Amino acid sequence: MLVLGIETSCDETAVAVVRGGVNVLSNVIASQHDIHQQYGGVVPELASRRHVENMPVIAREALGRAGVTLNDIDLFAVTRGPGLLGALLVGLSAAKGMAWALKKPLAPVHHLHGHIVAARFNHELVYPHLCLLVSGGHTSLYKVDGPVTMTELASTRDDAAGEAFDKVAKMLGLGFPGGPAVERAAKEGDEKAVPFTIPRVKGSALDFSFSGLKTAVREAMKKNPRVADVAASFQRVVTNTLVAHTVRAAAQFDFKEIVIAGGVAANGHLRAGMTRAGEEHGLRVVWPAPVYCTDNAAMIAAAGYFLYRENPDDPRWRDFNGLDAVANLPLETIAR
Ligand code: KG4
Ligand code: ZN
Repeated sequence: MLVLGIETSCDETAVAVVRGGVNVLSNVIASQHDIHQQYGGVVPELASRRHVENMPVIAREALGRAGVTLNDIDLFAVTRGPGLLGALLVGLSAAKGMAWALKKPLAPVHHLHGHIVAARFNHELVYPHLCLLVSGGHTSLYKVDGPVTMTELASTRDDAAGEAFDKVAKMLGLGFPGGPAVERAAKEGDEKAVPFTIPRVKGSALDFSFSGLKTAVREAMKKNPRVADVAASFQRVVTNTLVAHTVRAAAQFDFKEIVIAGGVAANGHLRAGMTRAGEEHGLRVVWPAPVYCTDNAAMIAAAGYFLYRENPDDPRWRDFNGLDAVANLPLETIAR
């Protein structure tokens, strides 16, 4: 089954063609970092406009690179939410237009569902497993029972880990997007130079909180330290916290396999820390290839395929009029 996936929830215009949920034939991503960089963050209106311009070009390129035509596509899949409403609408309209014209089914996908299945492109996954999802908008731990069945075990009470990377990068004058910039700067720094800590969240051993760390970084900057030292010390405490909570959850729920997903899973320091912890505690740790960690449409095509495969006769795959974009879409809308 050939699936064309579309992702436009934030500042990446992405289209991919995937066969059977695992075999990626093409994965085209037009990043908009150049326009948002000057504002230090994503400007929603500019993102929507750029998606409109990019979409026809990227869609043609994804089909071309896959060596297929639109008529070969059996299923369309598109991110319905969460994300920027105007940006989501561009992808949704494109997907509806193509599916409608070709009389093919269209599977609406939750963006995080895409991130959670992305590791399947590189690994055979064991179910159930524990997924640490660390992106710009979310930081959560999930019990994943199957390709369409997942339950949240813990989440952040305030900022997401990626958001903390972006905000700290801005404070350190390192540019946008912040994660890769902080990781680069940290390579030259001493991670013990600034004694950052993250306090436990009241009432939960698994939930996260990263907002206090921003204030600590702001305070530390007043003493004129080396930027690289602050970056390295910040990255150390974020990695240690993510690793500690994940290992704790694995012990509590008896998981043997851990998947790290989302944009921050591209971070080498986090991967190394999680690998070390895995060796120590007898856990298998896997993550998607970097291109499938950050936003992409291959993961959306895969998630759409798994949803559709559950019940191909479900009328919702043909309910184009009833399908809308939802900025705050809960993951429970897809998990069973
Ligand atoms: O998953 P993603 O592409 O988009 C969301 O769904 O949010 O994640 C983007 C986030 C950004 O905050 C970005 O700074 C962070 O992932 N990120 C990283 C790295 N690459 C991207 N954070 C740390 N280290 C990286 N190498
Ligand atoms: Zn994402």
